[in-house]
Amino acid sequence: MCYAIPGKLVEIRDNIGIIDYFGEKKRARIDYSDVSIGDYVYAQGGLLINKIKEKEALEILDAWKELFFELKKIDAKLPRVQKSGISESVLEALNKVNSNRELSKEELLSLLKIVNKDELRLTFETANNIRQKKHGNACCVHGIIEFSNYCQSNCFYCGIRSGRDIKRYRIDVDEIISIAKDAVIELNFKAIVLQSGEDIWYEEEKLIYLVKELRKLNILIFLSIGDRSPDTYKKLYEAGARGALLRFETSNKDIFNKIKPDTTLENRLELIKNLKSLGFVLATGFLVGLPEETCEDIINNILLTKSLKPDMYSLGPFIPVKDTPLEKSAFIDKNTLLKTIAICRLADNDANILVTSALETQNSAAKKEGLLAGANSLMVNITPKEYRSLYRIYDERAGSEKGIKENINDTLGLLYSLGRAPTDLGVK
Ligand code: 5AD
Repeated sequence: MCYAIPGKLVEIRDNIGIIDYFGEKKRARIDYSDVSIGDYVYAQGGLLINKIKEKEALEILDAWKELFFELKKIDAKLPRVQKSGISESVLEALNKVNSNRELSKEELLSLLKIVNKDELRLTFETANNIRQKKHGNACCVHGIIEFSNYCQSNCFYCGIRSGRDIKRYRIDVDEIISIAKDAVIELNFKAIVLQSGEDIWYEEEKLIYLVKELRKLNILIFLSIGDRSPDTYKKLYEAGARGALLRFETSNKDIFNKIKPDTTLENRLELIKNLKSLGFVLATGFLVGLPEETCEDIINNILLTKSLKPDMYSLGPFIPVKDTPLEKSAFIDKNTLLKTIAICRLADNDANILVTSALETQNSAAKKEGLLAGANSLMVNITPKEYRSLYRIYDERAGSEKGIKENINDTLGLLYSLGRAPTDLGVK
């Protein structure tokens, strides 16, 4: 099992490496000093993170070769676009995307309002086609460790908000390191997301130590730790972290002010922009279906995400949580969610788009449908079970009762059935 295929570095232009994967060429920013042309390397999230011995690489490539081309064939068969029963305006908008023209806000809005079954199908298929054209069948699979559910913030939507009475846990730094080591050595992960509530018990020094230790594993380290000062993030970057996941949650200032009492939209956006300018591989996005949200808000969320130039879109349904101020809110319907994913793809063809576990929690088929509506990335939860069930940002999270290996096998089974290779090949 492998979550990244090694490729051969065939060219270096400034700090960009051109990597050959079975004849397909991709680009990755060189983040590992000791490489030269001809080396076999791993890329994650658009960064070249590690090199491996030629003999080892050739063995892995040999094991992969047949599967790689077989999966491509399956993927190529899936998106067959049929155009019967579609209104002129929808056809016109989708044709525009197919000919590389940008859609206006009004056009995006009208796609979000589609209810007709054939039009929905065509929208999803078009998004899936664009995904295939831009990313091939590669699907990034990152492992996520939820290391603390303590949170100093009191966001109205969140199940680990400080004001909710739940059992809390913190995983000791050395235990996090050992969980990550297992994930890399035993389970072959090449990218690990470290997620927690906003928990300053993990002060700067602790996080720097953690990142430095994990960097020794030559993996992409993604941080999802919320509101910290740009200075702390800078030190964590210097320690070796290269990814940062921070959602702005909603672009609507009024909604933001009602649901996130501890910060402002302005501050949040400033931090996100800071992360980008520090050089982090940036994942950002929003919740879909917050109370009082309109279709126009959703389109604004997509356009705001795009304007932040993220390396990855992260969005998911808002799931109402018991004993929180928003417990009586409505669930968003699945189609609105899938349309939102598809429109992200149509509005930003090159995007990497994550399917999140919230999507799957809301509807068990939705992960697959999300991957067929334009998404191309996912995460596998590798938090030990005893902690995972306590990380209740929402209750009854999908997969929380399963073992890690079972979750991995389910994910691989799903990806193979769709013809997707569970690997991150860098960017085109
Ligand atoms: N439903 C769905 N997603 C949630 N998050 C927090 N609470 C919920 C909820 N009730 C998401 C937020 C946050 C991420 C870590 O979890 O978007 O950024």
